[in-house]
Amino acid sequence: MGGLMTSDGCRPCVIICALLLLSSVIGYRPVIIVHGIFDGPKQFEMLAKFINQSHPGTNVTTIALYDYIASMKPLWQQVESFREAIRPIMKSAGDGVHLICFSQGGLICRGVLATLPTHNVHSLIFLSSPIAGQYGDSNYLKYFFPKFLKSRLYYFCYTTHGQKISICNYWNDPHQRERYLKSSNYLAPLNGEIEHANLTAWRDSFLRIETLVLIGGPDDGVITPWESSIFGFYDSNETVVEMEKQDWYLRDAFGLKTLNSKGAVVKCVVPGVHHTSWHSNLTVYQNCIDKWLT
Ligand SMILES: *[C@@H]1O[C@H](CO)[C@@H](O)[C@H](O)[C@H]1NC(C)=O
Ligand SMILES: *[C@@H]1O[C@H](CO)[C@@H](O)[C@H](O)[C@H]1NC(C)=O
Ligand SMILES: *[C@@H]1O[C@H](CO)[C@@H](O)[C@H](O)[C@H]1NC(C)=O
Ligand SMILES: *[C@@H]1O[C@H](CO)[C@@H](O)[C@H](O)[C@H]1NC(C)=O
Ligand SMILES: *[C@@H]1O[C@H](CO)[C@@H](O)[C@H](O)[C@H]1NC(C)=O
Repeated sequence: MGGLMTSDGCRPCVIICALLLLSSVIGYRPVIIVHGIFDGPKQFEMLAKFINQSHPGTNVTTIALYDYIASMKPLWQQVESFREAIRPIMKSAGDGVHLICFSQGGLICRGVLATLPTHNVHSLIFLSSPIAGQYGDSNYLKYFFPKFLKSRLYYFCYTTHGQKISICNYWNDPHQRERYLKSSNYLAPLNGEIEHANLTAWRDSFLRIETLVLIGGPDDGVITPWESSIFGFYDSNETVVEMEKQDWYLRDAFGLKTLNSKGAVVKCVVPGVHHTSWHSNLTVYQNCIDKWLT
């Protein structure tokens, strides 16, 4: 009988060894994490650990900018800094990177990608992010605007002054469309809800994404409506209209329809997860994130 090296029983381990060797040579694409409002890299240590465990050797960077209270700064200002931090990571990743953007970080990522026409993002993962806007009371809101009801916040948000606070940049009051379109200097232009000179360039940039993964769920408790995390939003009756029926989707104003028709948009809806648990929930990682990080 043959020795160890030639025995059939050892073939699987030879194959596994070869695969491990291959992956350590080729490596996994680097992962960049963009944090949410009132948090920072510390809150993403668990997620980084999940990634390291399932894809050993992955270079994971959680951008440490505008952490905690500084996350209230206007989003265009934040986008500039995030873009400059992300650019060199992309540059040194010949085969592209993956981007995981949590909560408000999703809006930052939208701004970064729109204005970074040479980006090489493979998977763009929006993790419980109000990417179609926010219209709801939350503890975050109450902390900053204790005296405001959501129905009155537009008085503040839809002003030049208000647009200097991040939350107002994606405040989307379905009863104040005219004011929103006139004043929103962030979400409205990104969505192509208003005309501007850079629409085509931003759209082209968005279309460079290989896969767009949208993760959210009904027990989130903060993102309102929670469907905003999968690009749904309220109509003027506060009835949620799904992504595919949104006006900016039907007009393909920023490329979402094109991406979706290529089969490049994936939705992962998970019940039973509160907003602050998304990035530390192993089930969410395994079912919605892991397979997009190769
Ligand atoms: C990744 O996992 C390896 C093996 O478990 C460990 O030695 C290493 O410290 C981990 N790296 C990070 C950044 O967590
Ligand atoms: C991970 O990526 C960062 C940013 O590109 C780089 O500075 C760092 O050296 C990398 N770390 C490793 C271990 O490759
Ligand atoms: C278009 O993009 C350029 C370069 O990023 C920027 O300077 C300019 O302000 C943008 N214009 C609009 C209308 O957003
Ligand atoms: C809002 O509800 C009213 C009454 O049910 C209905 O007539 C109207 O068409 C609805 N508007 C929208 C935008 O769905
Ligand atoms: C993790 O997610 C699952 C759903 O996939 C949920 O049932 C569970 O309660 C979550 N755990 C925590 C701690 O949030």
